[in-house]
Amino acid sequence: MDLRLTEEQQMIQAAARDFAQAEIVPVAADLDARGEFPSKTIAQMGELGLMGIEVPEEYGGAGMDPVSYALAILEIAAADASHATIMSVNNTLYCHGIMKYGTEAQKHAFVTPIASGQAVGAYALTEPQSGSDASNMRTRAVLSEDGSHYVLNGKKSWITSGPVAKYVMVFAMTDPEQGAKGVSAFLVDAEQEGFIRGKTEPKMGIRASATCEIEFENFRVPVENRLGAEGKGFSIAMGVLDAGRIGIAAQATGIARAAYEASVDYARERQAFGRPIAGFQMIQAKIADMRTRLEAATQLTLAAAWRKQRSKETGERYTLQASMAKLFASETAMFITHQALQIHGGMGYSKELPVERYFRDAKITEIYEGTSEIQRMVISRLETGTR
Ligand code: CAA
Repeated sequence: MDLRLTEEQQMIQAAARDFAQAEIVPVAADLDARGEFPSKTIAQMGELGLMGIEVPEEYGGAGMDPVSYALAILEIAAADASHATIMSVNNTLYCHGIMKYGTEAQKHAFVTPIASGQAVGAYALTEPQSGSDASNMRTRAVLSEDGSHYVLNGKKSWITSGPVAKYVMVFAMTDPEQGAKGVSAFLVDAEQEGFIRGKTEPKMGIRASATCEIEFENFRVPVENRLGAEGKGFSIAMGVLDAGRIGIAAQATGIARAAYEASVDYARERQAFGRPIAGFQMIQAKIADMRTRLEAATQLTLAAAWRKQRSKETGERYTLQASMAKLFASETAMFITHQALQIHGGMGYSKELPVERYFRDAKITEIYEGTSEIQRMVISRLETGTR
């Protein structure tokens, strides 16, 4: 692995950092407090090419590589995790899936408006009774007698960007007898009849990212909007999550970096017993552990992104690297934000500083796109070959 960043990677890293610090940092606390979707800054991110970083320019994206994507999301997350969540779902769960498995017509119709930031995309896999056990879904898609369309009925839950999405990638059972092999994927227009958005979830963290239930009531999908072959939906969902998990690893690393940097500044400035608290061994140990884990999370995340890049040539799966990066980076984000709060003492508990928001935001990275328990299961199954 070449650890030097290319000129292009450094450019997107700097552009994302400048934008995040200038435009997102000033509004993040207020958006979090009000639980408001950041429409303005997300549209600006679209103009900068951040909503479809790996999508080729002809489909409205920036045409960059997976390492560039990871670097950019890390910078956005260091300013605000909610923006990074919306960015991550758009880029990977939605655009990457269609670019990888879609037809030419699907790429033009469903990727271009989302990658260019004119609209927001979403990914609907989870259901009220099936989160980790994703193939145990109840949403049904039944092919019409004339074979022209499917009719979808069922309920999806915890859909990131569900309240605002224009297009959604939906997974539904076309053949329930077949279990995971009976799942198919569809691209749907949320403005059509039978697409019902539930109430926006009141969340502990990433509060500016909007999440809701979606119900399908006799919702019609033209057969040409099925993504991939019938029965291939579960593999598509899992393949897309491999890419998504690298984005969540980068998001977690970005949150961790922001909390770490705030802690170093605070430890230098805050005086106790006549000297900066950075001079006390117990704070020093925390700073050393935080920095070391931050470095490890960054390297694992970039290594996974690099394996994704390589897979474009070799076709190899990067499931193991994505799961390891997501597992380690999300647990690192929890560790670092927890330590950061402790270093800040009472100020860490106050809404005057962003540290308490980093702490609340970090938690979701251990839950969505596969819990830490699921990542451990995926890693162990791949390593031992045992289920
Ligand atoms: N890539 C491609 N195909 C894959 C794959 C991958 N990474 N992983 C599995 N598959 C394929 C398998 O090869 C298998 O196909 P074959 O039988 O043809 O070989 C098929 O999928 C079924 O695989 P498993 O038998 O391993 O499936 P399982 O039922 O045991 O489940 C699991 C495996 C790892 C637990 C999976 O269900 C999982 O990842 N669960 C977590 C789901 C998750 O991450 N949900 C998050 C929702 S999205 C979200 O959070 C979005 C958001 O809004 C931010």
